[in-house]
Amino acid sequence: MNSSNAWLKAHNAVHLMHPMQDPKGLKDNQPVIIESGDGVHITDVDGRRFLDLQGGLWCVNAGYGRKEIVDAVTEQMHKLAYYSLFPGSTNPAAIALSQKLIEITEPEGMAKVSFGLGGADAVESALKIARQYWKLEGQSDKYKFISLYNGYHGLNFGGMSACGGIAWRSSYEPLMPGFIQVEGPHLYRNPFTQDPEELVEICAQLMERQIELQGAHTVAAIIAEPIQGAGGVIVPPASYWPRLRQIADKYNILLIADEVITGLGRSGALFGSRGWGVKPDIMCLAKGISSGYVPLSATLVNQRVASAWERDAGFTSVYMHGYTYPAIRCPVQLDWRRSISLCARTWPTTPRWSANTSWSACGNSKTSTVRSVTCVERG
Ligand SMILES: Cc1ncc(COP(=O)(O)O)c(C=O)c1O
Repeated sequence: MNSSNAWLKAHNAVHLMHPMQDPKGLKDNQPVIIESGDGVHITDVDGRRFLDLQGGLWCVNAGYGRKEIVDAVTEQMHKLAYYSLFPGSTNPAAIALSQKLIEITEPEGMAKVSFGLGGADAVESALKIARQYWKLEGQSDKYKFISLYNGYHGLNFGGMSACGGIAWRSSYEPLMPGFIQVEGPHLYRNPFTQDPEELVEICAQLMERQIELQGAHTVAAIIAEPIQGAGGVIVPPASYWPRLRQIADKYNILLIADEVITGLGRSGALFGSRGWGVKPDIMCLAKGISSGYVPLSATLVNQRVASAWERDAGFTSVYMHGYTYPAIRCPVQLDWRRSISLCARTWPTTPRWSANTSWSACGNSKTSTVRSVTCVERG
């Protein structure tokens, strides 16, 4: 071990707060120190090379060391490292990226984009937009959000309040009022049934009962992930998202797709909700949007939602999104062309989403469940 590696290992947790980890555990279980990346591989300070199956934190969709991305970011930094979108100014990079995002979400009918720095920002913006939408619609009682057990929506206070797992919530309670969780269709370990269609129906009914208990006139939106990621890679049966859309329409509630992981190709379709054949009202994108090269996220809204801001409502229609930084962090010539063509090639040839079958594919005592959405690139 060379002396700088020894220094790095000795100093790793001295001043650095490692997230998502018991700090005492770090002494016995030292993290690998990743120094470089190339394509799908990463290398640690000891020269060990790993296949990075997770793509960082499910975000490096285009792979490491992509020269064209680094060049595009560098070129933009040289030209203009920063400018804001606050009143009186804008910049070409933000305009171009918003246009691109609307182009690629044309099937969903998205109309407007708000930028942020990460998935939690994207969710926070979606929650704020949903509440403001209903105020602009003259229905300010509609402020509650319904999300799913095992759902993960980032760890700002808004997203954390929507999270459906105690580990993400308990140290920071009390969380925001008006957030309610219901059961989602988790085929493995649910108390109801092993039949996917029956489970979808039960979960849909639980959702409807909760909406009726709260009063639909108080519910702003349902927020969920097309495939639950951090909660355990839980793939819902194919009929669940279409049922969510039906329920949202029945009760006049917005549907927010948290596509932070599933968006931009990671789930086999370009967007997870597109894979399920569903058009959400609001989409949260991050991670794959910049492949982790710069912090960036986007919240997209469809025309129905965007229209509320088009009325002459004076100060109440100001979108109070006061973040300093997101505006120019958008120069990345994202490698969507590859993502899109990859999806286009895999999607039609992909075996059906495997939620209905994979859970029963476990044949030994060490494997309790297998969950996947098959995405195999064919030649
Ligand atoms: C579905 C989902 N939403 C939101 C987030 C938060 O994203 P970020 O970590 O960029 O804040 C994550 C992060 O993993 C996520 O998986």
